[in-house]
Amino acid sequence: MITRRAALLAGAAVAAMPRLARAADGYVLEPKKSMARLAPDDRPETAIWGYNGTVPGPELRIPQGETLNATLRNGIDQPTTIHWHGIRIDNAMDGVTALTQDPVNPGETFDYRFKAPDAGTFWYHPHNRTWEQMARGLYGPLIVEEAEPPAYDRDLVLMLDDWRLNDDAQIDEDSFGSLRDWSHAGRLGNWPTMNGSPQPEYAVKRNERLRLRILNTANASVLVLRLDGMSAHIVAYDGMPVPPQPLDSTFIMAPAQRIDLIADVTGDKPALMLAGRENFRACSFPVTGEARKVPLTDPLVLPPNPLDTAIDGKDALRKTLTIGGGAMGGMAEARIGGFGAAYRGEDPVEGVLPLRTLAQEHNLVWALNGIAGMPLEPLFKASLGQTVIVKLVNEGRWPHAMHFHGHHFRETKPGAPWRDTILLNPRETKEVAFVADNPGRWMLHCHMLEHQAGGMGTWFEVA
Ligand code: C2O
Ligand code: CU
Repeated sequence: MITRRAALLAGAAVAAMPRLARAADGYVLEPKKSMARLAPDDRPETAIWGYNGTVPGPELRIPQGETLNATLRNGIDQPTTIHWHGIRIDNAMDGVTALTQDPVNPGETFDYRFKAPDAGTFWYHPHNRTWEQMARGLYGPLIVEEAEPPAYDRDLVLMLDDWRLNDDAQIDEDSFGSLRDWSHAGRLGNWPTMNGSPQPEYAVKRNERLRLRILNTANASVLVLRLDGMSAHIVAYDGMPVPPQPLDSTFIMAPAQRIDLIADVTGDKPALMLAGRENFRACSFPVTGEARKVPLTDPLVLPPNPLDTAIDGKDALRKTLTIGGGAMGGMAEARIGGFGAAYRGEDPVEGVLPLRTLAQEHNLVWALNGIAGMPLEPLFKASLGQTVIVKLVNEGRWPHAMHFHGHHFRETKPGAPWRDTILLNPRETKEVAFVADNPGRWMLHCHMLEHQAGGMGTWFEVA
């Protein structure tokens, strides 16, 4: 396996994110095979799958409230879709195989067209065999811009990934589908990249005010991060603004989560560090020149998004979602969900199966409320505008990153931010609430993609 130390010696070139000009009739996104320089120069390039051949895929930008047109043209040899993660989207455009659309076959196209109601940091990725397609490099940023541009000097998108590469710096394919990964922490990588590059450098100016949009696009890794050499405030989580919170220590990002920072270049050797076990520099920001004599000190507040925040506990629909299974989880059996089989026109296997049969015959090792894999019936049906309160109970020994589609939610404790993905540590329970204001069939799943594939997916309906 490639070691992180190798990169510490190699200087990486400055990487620019590909930006795609928006044609009058919209974007074209074509997942296809390509090569990428994920590893340092003394290693080969890596064979990847990328949107339009790059990883990350092109940076899409649209003004808040406007319509995005994007044509998916499938250039890989598997069916695929695009999910627009975190956008409170029209259900038909949500990109979830079987639940909201048929997957797009190789060579075929699908037109996505939707309004983006919220300004903020979002992203796109496949929602078919996500665990493989994302691990091969299919993801990209979707930035929705505020109507009035906030007062910072520059906007930097920072997509952090974590790859599992072999000695030749190629994606370790042998471990795709490994039940060991699926039943433990998921596919953890051995090689971090920033915007698809090894330890890139982004030149900044003394006292420059940056907006850093950080995204965790890893399949399963929870990242512990630290920002050195800048004074920063957190201004948004998962695309939703929060009152500025000073960043004075490490911060944690579960898979799929985003954090926006307003960061002033005030210190020496600015860098974003993976502060977990290894203290690895994900990227650095060499200081050249000066933006102003003294740093700005007034915190910058982002304008609010048009989110329905009227949580009314009295008439709320209450549900408990208990996560069971996984290695050492003590789950003996579970009911098989059957949604996938029914969708494919097969007779769904029905009934309660022992864990061994679920694992060996169906690759299922997790269950939500005792059901492994997507159920035929939704977890709950909410009426339009109803408040929903879900208690998420993690009984096992593994962390999970639970993601709700089509809605943002917040924990029911005071002051909790609006999010679309929430981390549950082992043996942790969290209660979240949201207003079911977006009609359709919405998926709810763990964003540790091997957990999702291994049974941690369900859905709810808003009508
Ligand atoms: Cu980021 Cu269901 O997805
Ligand atoms: Cu999980």
